[in-house]
Amino acid sequence: MYRTHTCGELRLQHNNQSVTLAGWVQTVRKFGSITFVDLRDRYGITQLLFSESFNEALDANPLGREYVLRVTGAVNERSNKNANLPTGDIEILVVSFEVLNAAATPPFKIQDDTDGGDDLRMKYRFLDLRRNAVKRNLELRYAVNRSARNYLHEQQFMDIETPFLIKSTPEGARDFVVPSRMNPGQFYALPQSPQTFKQLLMVSGYDRYYQIVKCFRDEDLRADRQPEFTQIDCEMAFVEQEDILRMFEGLVRRIFKDVKQIDYTETIPRMTWEEAMWTYGNDKPDIRFGMPLANLKFPPHTFPGKDNNSKLVDGAAFPVFDGAETVLAIAVPGCSEYTRKQTDELTEWVKRPQIGMKGLVFIKCNADGSFKSSVDKFYNEDRLRAIAGAADAKAGDLILILAGTEERTRKAISELRLYLAQQMGMRKPDEFKLLWVTDFPLFEYDEEGNRWVARHHPFTSPKPEQIGIMIDNNPVIENAAAYLEHPYAGIKANAYDMVLNGNEIGGGSIRIYQRALQEKMFAALGMDKEEQQHKFGFLLGAFEYGAPPHGGIAFGFDRLCALLGGSESIRDFIAFPKNNSGRDVMLDAPAAIDEKQFDELQIRLNIRP
Ligand code: AMO
Repeated sequence: MYRTHTCGELRLQHNNQSVTLAGWVQTVRKFGSITFVDLRDRYGITQLLFSESFNEALDANPLGREYVLRVTGAVNERSNKNANLPTGDIEILVVSFEVLNAAATPPFKIQDDTDGGDDLRMKYRFLDLRRNAVKRNLELRYAVNRSARNYLHEQQFMDIETPFLIKSTPEGARDFVVPSRMNPGQFYALPQSPQTFKQLLMVSGYDRYYQIVKCFRDEDLRADRQPEFTQIDCEMAFVEQEDILRMFEGLVRRIFKDVKQIDYTETIPRMTWEEAMWTYGNDKPDIRFGMPLANLKFPPHTFPGKDNNSKLVDGAAFPVFDGAETVLAIAVPGCSEYTRKQTDELTEWVKRPQIGMKGLVFIKCNADGSFKSSVDKFYNEDRLRAIAGAADAKAGDLILILAGTEERTRKAISELRLYLAQQMGMRKPDEFKLLWVTDFPLFEYDEEGNRWVARHHPFTSPKPEQIGIMIDNNPVIENAAAYLEHPYAGIKANAYDMVLNGNEIGGGSIRIYQRALQEKMFAALGMDKEEQQHKFGFLLGAFEYGAPPHGGIAFGFDRLCALLGGSESIRDFIAFPKNNSGRDVMLDAPAAIDEKQFDELQIRLNIRP
């Protein structure tokens, strides 16, 4: 037997047993005439004791960090026990050892508090993966994987693989493309998701499908985005939205139970997209804390039916508010005594290019009921009190107000809300709050192309009562202003996102399953009949052969793992991730390819060297 036990396994009950272990040298410590070595493997660390008799051999060939060793010896009760180590009651009195492989000095310390920077650790990811912190993340990922598979299997979902070399599936990002040698001049696209395949599987009668599957999207990267990432991708036939929400609440609850030992029994609240945008300025609000927005002023078309409070801020000769499309506020609890330095810092924060605001207005709601603001020149106490009332601010609160264009201001205040909550410790890493956001708009206006794009994807169905609004042809819009008034702007989708602590962990929809409606949808996105046939003939055709009503969802597997592991960076939960420029620094990819490969593909590069 190569080894009898792992390095994490031995306890006092094994005392006096003869064992053989194999692993990596974590540390070597000389202690008088004896030598201690910590031997590490995936399962833990065990202390080895080399007696004096080994000194000559060890002096001749010293053991270095990360050497691979096999040792045989006897388990021995330690005189000096280490309560921090599961194997800390014992050590191995080495009888014989064998260096299986030497190791160069690693470029950083393989321990929890490593001295290796991000780039170095990525370059030597195979060493980084030896570290406990990273290993724990991969273990958690595997636990989530197992839990999801168990649940879905019990619910009669079938794991069916779908191809990677396909024709483009639009999910809003750019495709990665792969040239075909056998079909010169033609390209496959890597799937942005298996969307159309899972729908075809529904037509084929596999009414519960799932796959833990790679997806590829050429988009700008952030902490929670990778160019290749993994989804828990699911689809069901003969369902309504309610069935899907319940089924996948079940999945997430099961994952919480199996992976975090958390009984997430509380009701998962549901919020329409409109409510989320109104209350939090964001379609994936973190509801672990309050601080809702006060919509002091907003364009009437954005929230039809909501009262506009603009009289509170307009007409005080304060040009910033008078001239703004939107004025939004939050009341930050207990911060009325912020110093000048603190409010200045917040102002700088909102002026950063990522946030892009011109400034920040504040009102301090003093404990004695009086008010002090940065706009005292324009607003008297009565007006400040009225604004404070609208913002639901209490004595002791600090009201922060942003003004500007609708979209930017809403986004900025929602970021500011998160930033403050983070600073005030209101985003507790060990608290989890799930939320469904529903009723997204079906369409979004793309200013650059002056056209409608699908907000989720083009296979998402509109609310049944609004199907009548959709016409056969492309509904031409004149310009951005006209789009706001267009009936398509008001169509809501049977689409839903699952949000965890302010992060979108999953999204899906009830699909279109009739050819005629799918054609109207494609037409709305500017595709004529020919283009529809060319791009999606297979799907339109399939809808004519008995397509059942169906719907589904896909969870961002990496994101879910990261959040369960208390991080928002998904990289730490992927064995071999890419950096923010989409590079694998270990492989040094992407890279140039040989002339010969270009020749075979009949491709000529059009960039200067
Ligand atoms: P969607 O595009 O919303 O839906 O993706 C589903 C979930 O995948 C995660 N995600 C990502 N994770 C890491 N890096 C990325 N670049 C990335 N992009 C998305 C998010 C997101 O919620 N086919 C549809 C699903 C459906 O309709 O059933 C789809 O892909 O957590």
